[in-house]
Parts: sequence; structure tokens; C-alpha cells
Amino acid sequence: MPKVIVLRWGHRPRRDARLTTHVALTARALGASGIILSDVKDEKIKETVEKIVRNWGGFFSFEMGTSWKKVVREWREKGGVVVHLTAYGENIQTSDVLKRIKATGKDILIIVGSKKVPKEFFSKKVSDFNVAIGNQPHSECASLAVFLDRLFEGKELTKEFENAKVKIIPQKRGKKIARI
Ligand SMILES: C[S@@+](CC[C@H](N)C(=O)[O-])C[C@H]1O[C@@H](n2cnc3c(N)ncnc32)[C@H](O)[C@@H]1O
Repeated sequence: MPKVIVLRWGHRPRRDARLTTHVALTARALGASGIILSDVKDEKIKETVEKIVRNWGGFFSFEMGTSWKKVVREWREKGGVVVHLTAYGENIQTSDVLKRIKATGKDILIIVGSKKVPKEFFSKKVSDFNVAIGNQPHSECASLAVFLDRLFEGKELTKEFENAKVKIIPQKRGKKIARI
């Protein structure tokens, strides 16, 4: 399994707090190992995500404030590939882009945007793959979820999160939580 880190670009603290939190929680729940909130710091989101990790377990790194250029440069220097999720990219359903990504066998940095992303994101210098989760504009959270699920082929949905304090016991109806 490759290591997967999500780079959340363009977070606007006042406007995107809830959505960026959801991007982070989606990344964690669907198998990524961490998130980088590039270029900006938001202590509130860090706190929220770290609290979830303390209670619900597993390892999930949270980094913020690092410039996206530095993150991408260092990731590539270490031999990882960069996947930019964009409605303008190769369609994950109609192209073989996912197959090519998997064939690299390399760790993956997934970039998701917010507002309009810098043009450079589409260039070879930044992204190895520009991937569209369908070619209609929608959401960073939705595109991340679909991409991770296809990358991990659904296996991430059965992942056990180590050292959890709480765990959901699935029910047909109602809510059951085990405190461990
Ligand atoms: C709400 S969109 C805004 C995009 C912006 N208007 C633009 O033209 O670049 C925010 C992010 O969601 C992701 N996204 C939205 N639709 C997507 C799609 N169909 N496939 C892949 N990623 C998508 C991209 O990462 C994008 O940067």
C-alpha cells in the first residue's frame, strides 16, 4: 500500500473552516496517512482533527503553514508522485490514469484546491497526474473520497484504527458505541 498524504491548498480560514475539516476527516477515514494545510495556519482545525485522532484512533499527521511549493519539491525529491484532483484532468472512469498511478508503486501526494488553483498545478513541474472524478465541477471533499476509495479498492473502509478510545459497533438501527 502506498503512503498517501493530502495537500489542501487555498484554505481560507474564515470561509473554509468546515469544509477543510471535512477534507481532513475524509482523508483520515478513507485511508490517507495525513494532511498538509499549505501556506496557512488554522489552529482550530488542527485541534479538531487531533481530537478526533485521539478518540477514534489510528495515526494521522497534521501539518500546516508550509508552502505548497516546498511540500511538492520535497515530496518529489523523496521519489513520491503528485496527483492533482481537478475537473479538467483525465477522467478516472474513462481513462487508464488510475492504473498508471498504481503502476508507479510510489507514495502519493494528492492536491485538492478550494478557489481557482494556480496554473502551475497542471504542469509537469508540479503534478505527475491530473485526475478528474468526472469532468463536472463539484467538491474537494467528494473528489478526494472517490479517489481514495478507488485507489484502495474499498479496503480502507474495513481499516482498524489502533489505540482508539471509542469505536462504532455497526447496527441495523440506532447507535452503539464501544468505549475501549
Ligand atoms: C470547488 S472546486 C473549485 C475549483 C475552481 N473553481 C477551479 O476552477 O479550479 C475545489 C476543488 O475541488 C476539486 N474538484 C472539484 N471538482 C472536481 C472533479 N470533478 N474532479 C476532481 N477534483 C475536483 C479540485 O481539487 C478543486 O480544486
